Amino acid sequence: MVFPQLKQKIVLVIGGAQGIGAAVRRTFLSESAVVIDADRQYKDTFSQTSANAYQCFLDICEEASVLRLRDELVKRQLVPDVLIHVAGISIMDDFLASQTEDFDRVFAVNTRGAYLVLRTFTAEMKQVKKAGRVVVIASQAGKNPYRGMTAYVASKHAVIGLTKNLALEVAADGIQVNAVCPGIIETEMKQRERVDGAKLRGLTVAEIEAEDASQVPLRRTGTPQDVANVVLFLASPLASYLTGQAINVTGGMTMHG
Ligand SMILES: NC(=O)c1ccc[n+]([C@@H]2O[C@H](COP(=O)([O-])OP(=O)(O)OC[C@H]3O[C@@H](n4cnc5c(N)ncnc54)[C@H](O)[C@@H]3O)[C@@H](O)[C@H]2O)c1
Repeated sequence: MVFPQLKQKIVLVIGGAQGIGAAVRRTFLSESAVVIDADRQYKDTFSQTSANAYQCFLDICEEASVLRLRDELVKRQLVPDVLIHVAGISIMDDFLASQTEDFDRVFAVNTRGAYLVLRTFTAEMKQVKKAGRVVVIASQAGKNPYRGMTAYVASKHAVIGLTKNLALEVAADGIQVNAVCPGIIETEMKQRERVDGAKLRGLTVAEIEAEDASQVPLRRTGTPQDVANVVLFLASPLASYLTGQAINVTGGMTMHG
């Protein structure tokens, strides 16, 4: 345990079934927090998986699903102290040849989904007068353009906008809201992006892997735990004077604010 202050705090992780979200979930469980993990991969509406852990189905594209989880948390007195929004999708698309349906799908999850989650659960935190923390996983694609990722880049720029506006509006309520902008992190999403990117660019997956590592000043791609560590910091007492920030966790690949 790094931060005893997080013991028994209620932490809601949106999208914790795999990848970065799973590392975040494990990190807060090892802080002895009460962790509720909501992801579209789970079957049950709400189930307890260990003394401190809950799992529940949530599809952030469906407002009714988000509101159902909110009602469940209120009923069980599990309104979060810390909300961590991780869920997202990516697709590879060439701007001029891209499809409107793909653009809509990415925005439905990454931007509209984030909006629904942030609005719904932060309102509940405010309602029960909980000073708390909100951490949103955006991306360095929320600050830079990337060839072949039009919809994703635009959706993540919007996520940083949502983060800043929410931070501004709830600061006086004692709720601090920050984004984390990961770089190249080894997850299933990244593996699939390499396969799709290789097809789009006429390269091999191995060539893209080598290119990825070569772009990072620290000379390696990131792990989900590299990101979870910064999320933990942002939820901790050490981040007492931070709000509305979008913090790069990129091994130096993105250096600007
Ligand atoms: N992997 C990277 O290199 C990288 C870099 C920058 C940002 N990110 C961001 O980090 C976050 C996590 O990415 P990851 O690489 O771990 O991806 P991942 O695909 O491994 O995991 C994403 C998780 O989100 C969940 N999810 C997706 N759509 C959902 C929905 N509609 N409702 C509920 N849950 C849903 C999935 O079930 C999954 O568990 C994403 O927002 C992604 O954009 C990833």
